[in-house]
Amino acid sequence: MFSCIKGKELTFKNLVNGEWTSSESDQFIEIYSPIGNCLVGKVPAMTKEEVDFAIKSADEAQKAWRNVAVNKRAEILYKAADLLIEKADEMSSIMMREIGKDKKSCESEILRSADYIRFTADTAKNLSGESIPGDSFPGFKKNKISVVTREPLGVVLAISPFNYPVNLAASKIAPALIAGNSVVLKPATQGSLCGLYLAKVFEQAGVPAGVLNTITGRGSVIGDYIVKHPDVDFINFTGSTEIGSRISSITSMVPLLMELGGKDAAIVLEDADLDVAASNIVAGAYSYSGQRCTAVKRILVVDKVADKLLEKVKAKVEALKVGNPVDGADVVPLIDMKSADFVWELIEDAKAKGAKLILGGNREENLIYPTLFDNVTTDMRLAWEEPFGPVLPIIRVKDKDEAIEIANKSEYGLQSSVFTENINEAFYVADRLEVGTVQVNNKTERGPDHFPFLGVKASGIGTQGIRYSIEAMSRPKATVINLNR
Ligand code: NAP
Ligand code: G3H
Repeated sequence: MFSCIKGKELTFKNLVNGEWTSSESDQFIEIYSPIGNCLVGKVPAMTKEEVDFAIKSADEAQKAWRNVAVNKRAEILYKAADLLIEKADEMSSIMMREIGKDKKSCESEILRSADYIRFTADTAKNLSGESIPGDSFPGFKKNKISVVTREPLGVVLAISPFNYPVNLAASKIAPALIAGNSVVLKPATQGSLCGLYLAKVFEQAGVPAGVLNTITGRGSVIGDYIVKHPDVDFINFTGSTEIGSRISSITSMVPLLMELGGKDAAIVLEDADLDVAASNIVAGAYSYSGQRCTAVKRILVVDKVADKLLEKVKAKVEALKVGNPVDGADVVPLIDMKSADFVWELIEDAKAKGAKLILGGNREENLIYPTLFDNVTTDMRLAWEEPFGPVLPIIRVKDKDEAIEIANKSEYGLQSSVFTENINEAFYVADRLEVGTVQVNNKTERGPDHFPFLGVKASGIGTQGIRYSIEAMSRPKATVINLNR
């Protein structure tokens, strides 16, 4: 249905120990665009021996990298940020073809990543340790002091998802490197062309050989092997709850930082500004076809204002641009047919169980038209499952307490929004929601990137956000001075 986005076919190699290498297996994975199913390029399918060599190189290179001064590491990051900006146009064209995101959003993802990298360098330069006097603890005299500094962890395995192939790789690589770790990046296969391009940027910025390495290969083939690798000291994973749970169940004694799935609720109270609520909800739910962990994935609205909200949301969904990312569409074909089939199952289930279809509910291949359901009830899959597609259920509730109860029944706990003009009501709801972040009068979203970003329950382990990520990928080291007095 869609014609191919023009561009040359790319063959990318992996960065291992400072060299760009193909695989001895001579096997490649072909990457097809979600737009018109055209070949965008190919990446090597690495063998276990090659994976071993990449991780060993990272392990060895880290020994010198940890001793490089923070201000020198920061200089490399500043250079990488500058290069990203220089290459934003070429990179965003590849991204648009590889993952079907509109060009403007691709560019803003790259510029945001440059800001992230720069801010990471600034933050690390301004971090300080602490000294703790011993005599504050009962029974101790003034002869002991603990000097606390931070140490890198070693080799960080960074596994990134398809939907932000530059930003969610850069936001792992930059804090890991500045903290003195080496990195092995395993990008999502669909997104690996962008991931390898990003690695090239860091290499050109001056990251020494072995400090950043890349591994390509299907997660289903090499995933278990890399996460259980004995030389990996930390795993920073962003992706589905299914794969995240698998990683946490098969690894042992390796610290994990995980950002996983979500079912973010927008709770709309009686006194909400409904225009603000509707525009935030629609932007939050449908941009990039809802393929964002923080997309608004359900509306919980109190009965009294549900009809009015529905009218406003409907008008805004009708105005969305649907189609080709080249034309700047908000709703574009999903990443692959399997994802579209899954979203379709949720739509069929809701229809069969009596939800009222307001808009959409139709598809062409992997393009799902923006779909809005009213009167969704808690026996429907759409009330609980993450579609990662442009489908929004409205669940009507009698009051804020019922909204909180349904919001908290979810297995997920990434973010929630509450729309109200009353600060007391906002805090009443926010205090009770079991999520990492509550947005008051705004859509659910990750940025600004120096804020803490975390999921509770099945939505994650640990906290990201620039300073938080640096801290997560380093540990305190205490040197205790004992004075002879
Ligand atoms: P995914 O299928 O879980 O894949 C994520 C990464 O894991 C990819 O690099 C994938 O490689 C790799 N992988 C697959 N199987 C593996 C295994 N057995 N061991 C180790 N790694 C393995 O997720 P996705 O489809 O790319 O992204 C969508 C999901 O990510 C959604 O659920 C979304 O909510 C979540 N997400 C969460 C956040 C957040 O910050 N909370 C942000 C973005 C996305 P291959 O591509 O080679 O399979
Ligand atoms: O897909 C998950 C991303 O981390 C969401 O980021 O809220 O800026 O779109 P975003």
